[in-house]
Amino acid sequence: MLRIAVQSKGRLYDETMLLLEEAGIKLNRGKRILLLSAKGFPVEVLFLRDDDIPQSVANGVADVGIVGENEYVEKGAEAKLTKRLGFSKCRLSLAIPKDEEYGGIEWFEGKTIATSYPEILTDYLDRRHVKANLHIISGSVEIAPGIGLADAIFDLVSSGSTLVSNRLKEVDVVMNSEALLIANNELSEEKQAILDELLFRFEAIQAAEGKKYVLLNAPKDKLNEIIEILPGMKSPTITPLADDKWVSVQSVITEQHFWEIIGKLKASGAEGILIIPIEKMIV
Ligand code: PRP
Ligand code: ZN
Repeated sequence: MLRIAVQSKGRLYDETMLLLEEAGIKLNRGKRILLLSAKGFPVEVLFLRDDDIPQSVANGVADVGIVGENEYVEKGAEAKLTKRLGFSKCRLSLAIPKDEEYGGIEWFEGKTIATSYPEILTDYLDRRHVKANLHIISGSVEIAPGIGLADAIFDLVSSGSTLVSNRLKEVDVVMNSEALLIANNELSEEKQAILDELLFRFEAIQAAEGKKYVLLNAPKDKLNEIIEILPGMKSPTITPLADDKWVSVQSVITEQHFWEIIGKLKASGAEGILIIPIEKMIV
């Protein structure tokens, strides 16, 4: 049995639950349930506050955890970074009232900064020889300047709308953050094997992200031209059709160049183009 700590609510919660579900970990979560066993996979999920996850993994209360990089770095816990999960991307930034003029980091000299990330901020300011006072609060950091509790804030920024609605502006990005999978340093062989299977599944999900399966009919005399257009992982699959002037072509394309590729395929005489979502990809 492998115990995974995840955030009980908030920024990472939805995407974490989706990832676990796609990895075949089915949970029926009722309200207020803190520990849940999955169906069909030897995993149990422990719901915690995100600030508690790094420590819980470090001391073995949980075997692995899914947590924001911001908390992992802030807590400095001795847990292993096993995998970057690529979702919940945001940044930890310094922000000041929007009408203030900002010339550089010296602006913060002697100022009071509200934050929930004192370790990261202290380290950053020390390295730049800036002395500021920290006002440490655990939530609603962004309202501190407006009510006179601080001159500035140091907090997570994602869309930036929290800053805008509090009349603040981001002036310095201190670090980028995303969801991480972290693990205890001393997992038993049995737990490591479950973790390896989990990683394999996560990788299959990540590999499929942004990719589509394309199926089309191509006139045989245009086949080479059409194959050139398709940037498949390997050469495309080609199967004959009842009409021997045509073949069916199948390949994987990335969403990035999707419309461009479709346009070229049509122009080259491809017909009956089908685009199919890919759920998992084992490469
Ligand atoms: C973070 C941060 C801001 C908000 C920024 O809070 O503290 O309040 O997100 O996001 P935005 O740039 O998209 O507006 P979070 O939702 O993580 O909750 P918390 O402050 O309670 O930890
Ligand atoms: Zn917040």
